[in-house]
Amino acid sequence: MSASESKIAGRNIVVTGGASGIGLGLCRRFIDMGAAKVIVADLNENAAQQAASDLGDSASAVTCDVGDEASVEALVASAIERCGHIDMFVANAGVGAGAGLDASNELWELSWRVNVMGPVYAARHAIPHMAERGGGAFVITASSAGLTTGPTSFNYATSKHAAVGVAEWLAINHGPTVTVSAICPTLVDTPMAPEFGTVLKQPLTVDEVVDSAVEGIEAGQFLITPEPVAVDMLRAKAQDYDGFLANMQQRVAAMQAATERPG
Ligand SMILES: NC(=O)c1ccc[n+]([C@@H]2O[C@H](COP(=O)([O-])OP(=O)(O)OC[C@H]3O[C@@H](n4cnc5c(N)ncnc54)[C@H](O)[C@@H]3O)[C@@H](O)[C@H]2O)c1
Repeated sequence: MSASESKIAGRNIVVTGGASGIGLGLCRRFIDMGAAKVIVADLNENAAQQAASDLGDSASAVTCDVGDEASVEALVASAIERCGHIDMFVANAGVGAGAGLDASNELWELSWRVNVMGPVYAARHAIPHMAERGGGAFVITASSAGLTTGPTSFNYATSKHAAVGVAEWLAINHGPTVTVSAICPTLVDTPMAPEFGTVLKQPLTVDEVVDSAVEGIEAGQFLITPEPVAVDMLRAKAQDYDGFLANMQQRVAAMQAATERPG
């Protein structure tokens, strides 16, 4: 895949967590943009099949648990068997459930298994295949919580920092042969959003995230942030870490006050 060629039109693309929210939005847009084949991979078998049937002949469903290496290996093999090869793998599946200091070990383990090892297993099995063919694209849906933490749950924010670390390591060690991108949205209006509790901002729409994602992927950009504020905050953190933390503490206090306010 040369830099001037589309990474989407005419390509074979696997999207994990493709049956809902951002993943489903990406699958739909990839097909609208002329992708050859889109594999809708999801833990939820019925939802994946429904999504693939709604998306039409270019889509097909594979049931997969991204936190289980054998399942991810089988997904990559099945995608190669169905499509001939994979041009792009989008490690999008994630879990949002979380808590603070009281987050259970089970929640920590789930966040780690799905949000971190999911992309690691995908990279381990898809990147050598793409590199052998001379190139491809590998995309991780991380989160702005992986850049600047924010007032979100302890286990979620920590796992998303690790997901950004996975993407950065892959970009440094396997780019530019394989183009690596990390999508880092703030809150998005999907079935996962309520898991993040009270928020003081209007969520992004899936379409806004998808617009930004396809533009960034086509440009071979690493950091894809649908809202410039995420980059502003990252810059503020790099320039003055203590000032950034003080600002975040104020935001958390404002959120707590909003939650406790009657009515
Ligand atoms: N919604 C947000 O506010 C937001 C913000 C930033 C980043 N993200 C990230 O975007 C990605 C997509 O989230 P979404 O908001 O579209 O959520 P969603 O709940 O709408 O979709 C997640 C999909 O992932 C699937 N899934 C969950 N665990 C899986 C597993 N082990 N194996 C395979 N599939 C699995 C689910 O069945 C579901 O279809 C996640 O990585 C999430 O962390 C979401």
